[in-house]
Amino acid sequence: MKKFYFLGFFAMIFILSCGTDDEPIVIVDGEFSSIIYDPQTYEIPQPVGFSKMAQPADNIATIEGVDLGHLLFFDPILSADSTLSCSGCHLPEFGFTDGNAVSSGITNIAGSRSSMSLINIGYVSNGLFWDGGINNLEAQALMPVEDPIEMAASWPNIVERIRNHDVYPELFRKAFGIESRSDIDKFMVAKAIAQYERSIVSANSRYDQFLNNDSNFEFEDEEFEGLLMFFDEPTASADAECFHCHGGANFSSNEFFNNGLDAPEDLVDFGRENVTGNEVDRGKFRAISLRNLELTGPYMHDGRILDLESVVDFYSDSIHISGNLDVNLSEPINLNEEEKGYLLAFLKMLTDTSYLSDPHFLNPFE
Ligand code: HEC
Ligand code: HEC
Repeated sequence: MKKFYFLGFFAMIFILSCGTDDEPIVIVDGEFSSIIYDPQTYEIPQPVGFSKMAQPADNIATIEGVDLGHLLFFDPILSADSTLSCSGCHLPEFGFTDGNAVSSGITNIAGSRSSMSLINIGYVSNGLFWDGGINNLEAQALMPVEDPIEMAASWPNIVERIRNHDVYPELFRKAFGIESRSDIDKFMVAKAIAQYERSIVSANSRYDQFLNNDSNFEFEDEEFEGLLMFFDEPTASADAECFHCHGGANFSSNEFFNNGLDAPEDLVDFGRENVTGNEVDRGKFRAISLRNLELTGPYMHDGRILDLESVVDFYSDSIHISGNLDVNLSEPINLNEEEKGYLLAFLKMLTDTSYLSDPHFLNPFE
């Protein structure tokens, strides 16, 4: 009896795999009832200095869910022409950004914003995106698929493809307990991707070695001087004011500020004001994490600053004054060349490339 069931199952897969993406699927009710559904909790790492990651009650990470999300994140099946995956704009080697000033999708139409790092993304609270306009990872993961300048597909077609796939349906059974492939929906896809994203945790930079009291760790002189400047600790060098907005273990306050990139008349993207409708939020963006900066350039919401030296020059010498400029930047910082070097040395301490040797963070299809 059991044998017969499996034969039937494989025959059906064969028929399905001969069809095109958009053909209606054959629904076999309860086809998965013989596959055990027993998801195991996925322990999300909590590096030193970080608080416990919040997870939504209806989507606690499991090993099965995270593994499924890992495949979906790297699979171009989610785009209309099957050429672009989430990872196409969030590449591991670029700290899960895309290395471009602004991103473009399968239609090659350039968007207006720069791709964002997903390392430690589960620790971001207070809204996703440069303007904080998206509430959580589950909601975000639904968006790129139908965005005309990203993956330009339609969810009904993508869900159909996944239901017809020869591997995914069983994995959805193991992660979410579905009875048959027709139970798969876009919310389940988004949940799996969100679980995987929460598992993208890495904090093994030189700075973390210092926090961990690693016995092999020693500061270079300029790194330590840069640290004192970053945190406005007493030293002969100038205060750099950075920690006010980029503080905490993830070097992000998760708050929105105007950091003086533009004079008011030159603002193109109103940032946070687009979300709140409030003029006091004009030109404010999220002070994102400064971890892994050496991998994530170009910098700022529109990728206008090409290298880290120029970021430091900007904060030192080129802040635009406006009514919304944050008070911590209203006095010029004015660093000399040596001080700029110290600050850069400290920022480079925040680079962690250790995750690049762990398959969990790499493309499972390569
Ligand atoms: C065409 C390139 C592109 C593709 C494809 C893409 N993204 Fe993004 N992603 C971006 C850009 C650009 C932003 C910044 C958007 C903004 O602020 O308006 C972003 C932002 C995000 C953020 C918010 C990060 C933060 O710190 O707030 C998450 C999470 C994310 N993307 C996940 C995904 C997932 C999951 C997929 C696949 C379903 C995906 N992205 C596909 C370009 C892309
Ligand atoms: C008043 C708050 C504030 C202060 C102080 C501040 N920043 Fe920022 N920072 C921001 C905001 C907001 C953004 C995002 C701006 C945007 O993209 O429009 C940002 C973006 C950045 C980025 C770009 C990150 C990326 O991946 O694109 C870097 C690098 C950076 N800041 C470094 C620093 C350094 C170094 C200092 C100290 C010299 C500093 N910041 C001080 C608020 C601040």
